[in-house]
Amino acid sequence: MPSSPEPGRFRLDHAGLRDWLLELDPERLQALWSEADRVRRAHVGDAVHLRGLVEVSSHCVRHCLYCGLRAPSTGLDRYRMEAGEILACAHEAVRLGYGSVVLQGGEDPGLGQAFIAGVVRVIKQETPLAVTLSLGERSDEDLRAWKSAGADRYLLRFETSDPALYRRIHPDLPGIPSDRFAQLERMRDMGYEIGTGVMVGIPGQTWDTLAADILRFREYDMDMIGVGPFLPSPRTPLGGPAAETFLAAPEDQVPNDELTTLKAVALTRLVCPDANIPSTTALATLDRAQGRELGLMRGANVVMPNVTPLPFRALYEIYPGKACLGETPATCQGCLEGRLHALGRTIAKGPGGRIRTLCKDSVPCDFHH
Ligand code: 5AD
Ligand code: FES
Repeated sequence: MPSSPEPGRFRLDHAGLRDWLLELDPERLQALWSEADRVRRAHVGDAVHLRGLVEVSSHCVRHCLYCGLRAPSTGLDRYRMEAGEILACAHEAVRLGYGSVVLQGGEDPGLGQAFIAGVVRVIKQETPLAVTLSLGERSDEDLRAWKSAGADRYLLRFETSDPALYRRIHPDLPGIPSDRFAQLERMRDMGYEIGTGVMVGIPGQTWDTLAADILRFREYDMDMIGVGPFLPSPRTPLGGPAAETFLAAPEDQVPNDELTTLKAVALTRLVCPDANIPSTTALATLDRAQGRELGLMRGANVVMPNVTPLPFRALYEIYPGKACLGETPATCQGCLEGRLHALGRTIAKGPGGRIRTLCKDSVPCDFHH
């Protein structure tokens, strides 16, 4: 097994990333895994941050071609949690020892500005939790109000850096062009820590696109980066026969498999050494036996255990068969703790914000290169 890679081995420009994404040689892949693990340990340490995920609403006004919660999906019982229910989840997260909660939902105008601001304010008053919001594309007024109420972070995946593919799979709302990069930048200016990410293997995603996605993470100096496999949902166009018409040429199309996802996670760690990178639920869903562990061994340092009450959780069906679906927060926590200890990792205490270990202009330090 190769030990410390010689300088220049990890070419992380566009062509280098593309080559790594296509790499199949087991020895070279082993070197990639070791380097991602080394950089993860050097920059963010062995402690894994746990963020309690609360799926606050399954209503959504958008028509994303990949997501089971898209507005046209039928046969789903839509729900919106009440303030008291969301607060109870936050308190459960505290009891389980988590340092933050993520309030995630579809793009739901029913989650009004004042409602979310009120919930955030009470969570911040009653708990020591960091609060992350993940509520889609919202107005600057909403985002500012939520920041003032105490929200710390916002997650908004840009999904793909290819503008043509983005427009195809993420139709604009009438008259409102979607620009997630612009929203991410505005949120950073408002004082949010910002998180983003992409799916691996969306029909139409090429190796060049995925290499460009990874470079974008660095260019935008993202604080949190979630990379998970695309999992087809039968409720969506990309989960049915229409998906074929989206596929790139076979030699160009990125597969939505575990190996490619792990390469993308590992390369993301190399490119963004001090970012918070989750081992995603989608990866755990693709490989229930050890997907989450492999993510953590190959660059990730965050897990987002679901603390949504079980009846709601089953209705929040972005894709079918979500990992840990039937587990209560407490049993999931016990299971996860065992899995983390088996990997020799500890559970982090505190809110777990990004701690920069890079120079301001985000050039990686000497240690990393
Ligand atoms: N497979 C995997 N991930 C998905 N997401 C949406 N639909 C799917 C799917 N079918 C991801 C998107 C979104 C996040 C909340 O879930 O990246 O931003
Ligand atoms: Fe959730 Fe094992 S990690 S049940």
